[in-house]
Amino acid sequence: MSQAKQSSGERGFLRGLQTYGDRDFSIYMRRAFAKSMGYSGDELQRPVVGIAYTHSRFNPCHRHFPELLEAVKRGVGAAGGLALEFPTISLHESTLAPNSMKFRNLMAMDTEEMIRAQPMDAVVLMGGCDKTVPAQLMGAASAGKPAIQLIGGPQMTSRFRDERIGACTDCRKFWTQYRAGKLTGADIEAVEGRLVTTTGSCAVMGTASTMAAIAEALGMTLPGTAAIPAVHADRLRAAEATGARAVALARSDLTPDRIITARSIENAARVLLAIGGSSNGVIHLAAIAGRVGLRLDLRRVNELSDTTPVLVAVKPVGSEFYMEDFFAAGGIGAVLRELRPLLNLDCLTVTGETLGERLAREEGAYVDRRVIRSAAEPLEGEGGLVALFGSLAPDGAIIKRSAATPALFEMTAPALVFSSLDDLSARIDDPSLEVTAQHILILQNAGPRSPAAMPEAGFLPIPKKLLEAGVKDMVRISDARMSGTAYGTIVLHVAPEAAIGGPLGLARTGDRIRLSVRERRLDLLVEAGELARRRSAAAEAPTGCLRGYDRLFRDSVLQAPEGCDLGFLRGSPSHAAQP
Ligand code: FES
Repeated sequence: MSQAKQSSGERGFLRGLQTYGDRDFSIYMRRAFAKSMGYSGDELQRPVVGIAYTHSRFNPCHRHFPELLEAVKRGVGAAGGLALEFPTISLHESTLAPNSMKFRNLMAMDTEEMIRAQPMDAVVLMGGCDKTVPAQLMGAASAGKPAIQLIGGPQMTSRFRDERIGACTDCRKFWTQYRAGKLTGADIEAVEGRLVTTTGSCAVMGTASTMAAIAEALGMTLPGTAAIPAVHADRLRAAEATGARAVALARSDLTPDRIITARSIENAARVLLAIGGSSNGVIHLAAIAGRVGLRLDLRRVNELSDTTPVLVAVKPVGSEFYMEDFFAAGGIGAVLRELRPLLNLDCLTVTGETLGERLAREEGAYVDRRVIRSAAEPLEGEGGLVALFGSLAPDGAIIKRSAATPALFEMTAPALVFSSLDDLSARIDDPSLEVTAQHILILQNAGPRSPAAMPEAGFLPIPKKLLEAGVKDMVRISDARMSGTAYGTIVLHVAPEAAIGGPLGLARTGDRIRLSVRERRLDLLVEAGELARRRSAAAEAPTGCLRGYDRLFRDSVLQAPEGCDLGFLRGSPSHAAQP
């Protein structure tokens, strides 16, 4: 067979040839380099499965990815495909400055462009740590080739003295005890060595576990694989099966936009609410929706929240269980079966079956009701997250009520305002700070367009003098995000943010703020005339001289309700060029 004849198809290693003006020369060159890696002509004829590989020594949550990769490749090879891994950006929560969220869109761009530009028929997305899974789903949705997500899995727990502990709800708990003088320096150092003792993502229902759940609820993972612990042998079997399924996808036209639809996004939102998932999940789901030309409407999220029970007692909801318990208790499948009357069962999944077909197959599977409640006896009758609107947040804000203090849900109180993160750290523990437990703490200029680029700083520390007096929670409001492992009565993602002139930036210490979770309201009780005066007196914040990705991000990042994506990356993937 001539080279030109072999290349006539659109699939496999010869798709997307370079443009030298001589097609046969392009084929010859590509093969010459492929053969330098030892591949036979026969192997190069197989369906190509790319593997977006995010192993990095800067990412401890992905430490086990080399072994996981081998399992994926085994699955691809056994199913008759050619597995070719390629590196992309990898993001870890604790090793990126100013924060990992800023780079989610960069990773999504990297993932999208490499899937599109390289000759692969399908892609396995290997992700785990918080921002990696949404970045990969966003990129794959835009790239428009068949894709399947492989989750890295959560860490196992450890012990400190007689307590079972895991990252990172316990990270905050112990740090708060240390700040309150209840733990010594030696104690906190010992805790530091116990919090993360295996590879994998954080051991609680933080953002990573939430996004894994969302990926499975969307239909983008194999069934039952979202919550398998990172070090469990089932995780390796899931990797092998994912590789095998990717070969079938490579022979299909089951692209992500057929799986990620308005109806599956609604399913994913239901699951997010039912697991008491991370508030970051709302932002990421909005961004994923945006990549297939859809919008996650926060008012619709509230409607879903009103009719979706909280079923999962994994920290930070409850005080006992971790992700390894959730896996053993039945995982996402058990949650989906409880929610079945509320779900859109006709949604397709990467297996080619519908969600309804999957759930019918799993009927009667074991569930540990201590960890995953039934819909008839939920932990809470309503969903874990609620959107608030009002004069302080015209475009919306989010509160995670399942991790908050109900006694603080209805209140009008004076604000204590911090104008920036620097201002917060300079004054929060000042003994002369005029603050009481009845104040509402406000942090300004921590949204996506701020220099801090929307860090997980919404969990404002309780002032030390109040902590020492035994205060455990206060209302805190900001345009920042909060780690999915955090807890407290914390209002986040206020939009529009202070840095682009949102009303949050006009609040001053002593202003009255009204919060009503029942009415979904968040209001700044200041006369319109006074706000107009403050607005006209406000100086434009200097942006400095930005270059590269900083500039791209600053110029194009959208607000939280639109997922903080870059504006030019949203839209239907049908417009994307397909080599
Ligand atoms: Fe990676 Fe928490 S730091 S998931």
